[in-house]
Amino acid sequence: MPGVALYQNPHLIFASVKTGTDISKAVKALLEGKLVAIPTETVYGLAANALNPDAVASIFEAKNRPSFDPLIVHISDWDMLKPLVRQIPEAARLLAKSFWPGPLTLVLPRTPLIPDLVTSGLDTVAIRMPDHPLTLKLIRQAGKPLAAPSANPFGYTSPTTAHHVKEQLGEKVAYILDGGPSGIGIESTIVKCLDEKVEILRLGGLPVEEIEQAIGRKTDAVLTSSSQPDAPGMLSSHYNPGKKLLLGDVEHLLMLYPKKKVGLLTFCDDYTFPNIVRKVMLSEKGDLKEAARNLFAALRSFDTPEIDLIIAERVPDTGLGRAINDRLKRAAHSR
Ligand code: TXA
Ligand code: MG
Repeated sequence: MPGVALYQNPHLIFASVKTGTDISKAVKALLEGKLVAIPTETVYGLAANALNPDAVASIFEAKNRPSFDPLIVHISDWDMLKPLVRQIPEAARLLAKSFWPGPLTLVLPRTPLIPDLVTSGLDTVAIRMPDHPLTLKLIRQAGKPLAAPSANPFGYTSPTTAHHVKEQLGEKVAYILDGGPSGIGIESTIVKCLDEKVEILRLGGLPVEEIEQAIGRKTDAVLTSSSQPDAPGMLSSHYNPGKKLLLGDVEHLLMLYPKKKVGLLTFCDDYTFPNIVRKVMLSEKGDLKEAARNLFAALRSFDTPEIDLIIAERVPDTGLGRAINDRLKRAAHSR
């Protein structure tokens, strides 16, 4: 089923007062210490006032997230950054100027203004200026930085529509701000800038090549394994799609499991095999941006009783493809 419509207009699926585009409702909830789901260009976030420790605690509770996994703080303007960080190294300044608002999170030395719960007691804080008009307006009107992890239960696939959030966390949020489907579709690239060092802690929506071009040199490290103590959330098992996922040579895997009812995820090639129950091609024209945008919704679409097993193919390992393959690898480790 190539080209399957992965996004459905949530207004047609559920008519609920909880979901909408009412920014003042969202601001009011946030200032009362409640949780609001926010649209961003990467994935939807589960937001609380970052300066209110009780509100931040309810993020961990709602997501069932271990408290050793720190949160990203979202800002709307440069002025908001200054009180939160002690130092902005030159590379960080260059990167923020080039890519904010956008899919870049900077890890910088923090000030005591940020509650310990947000950073899990680390001496650094992760900060991002998301590129979504509704969320930028929301942060400006609330006048507070917002702590927000992806709006999914811990360990599961990140949401790229308001409807995904409603399905998994609908009961736990005061309001879901609906900004349409996320344009990029995978989480931000996390870059730690300390003194002269530039390290990629998580591959994401901003390709490493673009980062290196902006700073005019290679990064000092690209850390993607689960063992790194610096990004406690980078577990190798994450993005659980609800079914076992096998990643590799698709034809070989299809032949190995003739009795399984397979959901097939490919980049741009089509395969025919009798045990395929459903297939999704991430981008018929072989475009990595389109593939990233479709990835999480595609994984979710396989979580139905008629499928036993997901078989997935790696995409080309350059640009955004590195982040897509990283997510697929973790989904494969998750069960
Ligand atoms: O695109 C995104 O980044 C989305 C949207 C909502 O902004 N957010 C997101 O948040 O993906 P989350 O919580 O799912 O992932 C944040 C990651 C975690 O792996 C966490 O360990 C890491 O950021 N992180 C946060 N603060 C950190 C810090 N001070 N040092 C190192 N890693 C940090
Ligand atoms: Mg997440």
